[in-house]
Amino acid sequence: MAELTPKEKRKIRKKIFQLSAEIERHDRLYYKDSQPEISDFEYDCLKNELFHLKSLLSENPLALGIGDDRHENLLTRVHDTPMLSLDNTYSFLEILNFDARIRRLLQIDRPLSYIVEPKIDGVAVNLVYDQGRLSYALTRGNGNEGDDVTDNIKTIASLPLTIDNALERMEIRGEVYIESATFQRINRERLDRGEVLFANARNLASGTLKLMDGEEVRSRQLKFIAYGMGLGNHFNYQKEIYPFLGRLGFQSQKFFPLIDNIEDAEEVIRWLGNERRQLPYETDGVVFKVNECLLQKKLGSTAKAPRWAFAYKFEPERAETVLRDITFQIGRTGVVTPIALLEPVHLSGSCVSRATLHNSDDIAKKDIRIGDTIIVEKSGEIIPAIVGIKSENRSNQVLEKFTFPEKCPCCGTQLLRLYGVAWRCPNPDCREQVLQKIVYFSSKTAMNIDGFGETVVRKLVENKKLKTIGDLYNLSREDLYVLDNFGEKSMNRLLSNIERSKKTELWRFINALGIPLVGEKTAKDLAAHFASLDKLANASLEALTTVRGIGIKAAQSIVDFFEKAENRALLRQFLESGLEFQ
Ligand code: IVH
Repeated sequence: MAELTPKEKRKIRKKIFQLSAEIERHDRLYYKDSQPEISDFEYDCLKNELFHLKSLLSENPLALGIGDDRHENLLTRVHDTPMLSLDNTYSFLEILNFDARIRRLLQIDRPLSYIVEPKIDGVAVNLVYDQGRLSYALTRGNGNEGDDVTDNIKTIASLPLTIDNALERMEIRGEVYIESATFQRINRERLDRGEVLFANARNLASGTLKLMDGEEVRSRQLKFIAYGMGLGNHFNYQKEIYPFLGRLGFQSQKFFPLIDNIEDAEEVIRWLGNERRQLPYETDGVVFKVNECLLQKKLGSTAKAPRWAFAYKFEPERAETVLRDITFQIGRTGVVTPIALLEPVHLSGSCVSRATLHNSDDIAKKDIRIGDTIIVEKSGEIIPAIVGIKSENRSNQVLEKFTFPEKCPCCGTQLLRLYGVAWRCPNPDCREQVLQKIVYFSSKTAMNIDGFGETVVRKLVENKKLKTIGDLYNLSREDLYVLDNFGEKSMNRLLSNIERSKKTELWRFINALGIPLVGEKTAKDLAAHFASLDKLANASLEALTTVRGIGIKAAQSIVDFFEKAENRALLRQFLESGLEFQ
């Protein structure tokens, strides 16, 4: 390569300086605040660019650090063996380079065998067992020293606190994560409460690990998968480690195919790329590990990562399309969520025409305007998200700045922003709110009334056959005449489904009431504890806070709910219509 001129070097240095500062800012947002502004893919691109610029100046590009997740308010401890990161790539070709480098370092000519396993998108944790007892648990921190998260780790129900192993000290390494279904539930509940949503399950898991509120941590249902060992690793082959960890009582990797030659990498990536959709957690790639532990030891590590492992990361699927309009969804608690209506586009095997815009702050920050060409991304989440706009496409048209409505798009009531970033309609009689309450009331995890979904409810509400959830059990056959394409048979089926739902479990009804901060899990805890609606409705704040899993905020919300005269009247109405608990 031609020698760089001093001017070019200065320019590169300046760029390195700016990029490092930017990466540092994103590290802070990711590791400390658990609220990243950019996707992992964008972050990796920045890091790769820095790597490239540093190599142009022949500076050690590996001295890029591995981030630092330590918090000011947690105790730290030093790791017995450092916790490192993984080198990663988004390209198949690079995988061949990784393999070639490893064989060159080992001076081996033969093909190497690798274990290939899912890369779990969570938070790395090191569990230290002394004489078979869990002593403490640390996050990766800066690699040498991590935060002590023992108390929160102990909320993981399936984690063995003692293991059948006589070794003096043993380090078990793995990933703490939150299942995709739990992540979606938590975000739904946060949306209802007008709180900031977590961008993905990883951020939720890392935020949760650092919380001080044990009850809250428990309710978020952290999980742990073990994929390696520090001290105490006496194995000859990586593939023996997972069954061993399983025997000790850990949840461990289930898919870990062995390839005898790196040439098979592409096929196994494709296979795991499909299998990962069956997994209950998010994966952001696959990890290749040299199977022979003796070779792992010979290879050792750089300051940042082991030389015997590397990750291939899946690129999130993205597409460009036009933002046609922005509409609003009003939730059962009145939260107004903006929804992007898109020119339909193919993405991750489906046709996408709607995407979430999160909240008004997010729209303003990204300066999204109707008519813009935007980029949609679909990763693990079900709802696609808008990651940004293509501002260069704006030059040939004048687009109006988007302003969030001040009044409820349904009932015209002035919107309020009481707490959090969400705007809310404060009118409890707002038609859309009532409609969503009824839809929730009859949904699967509530009263489970089959055939009583949003389309049917909307028609009945629009025709004033339903005004509150209390009217549901008074619906007559004549009321159903307004439903399109509903013959005699469909009407009979729906009426009998409604009738059948009156005999139900108590937790279903508690959940169906839509008490703020009371979701399915809390409803189950309450039902198990009180076993009677009457007892629950008359429980004091003190009594409620003694229930396992109920925090002070939820307890207050329950008291407030049952104190309201209109809610008492609603309960009476339900009981009079023949509601019975099994
Ligand atoms: S092995 C010395 N295996 O990915 C590092 N890591 O981006 C060896 N990760 O810090 C790690 N799934 O937190 C390994 N199956 C897996 C993994 C995995 C996720 C995480 C780990 C690491 C990060 C690097």
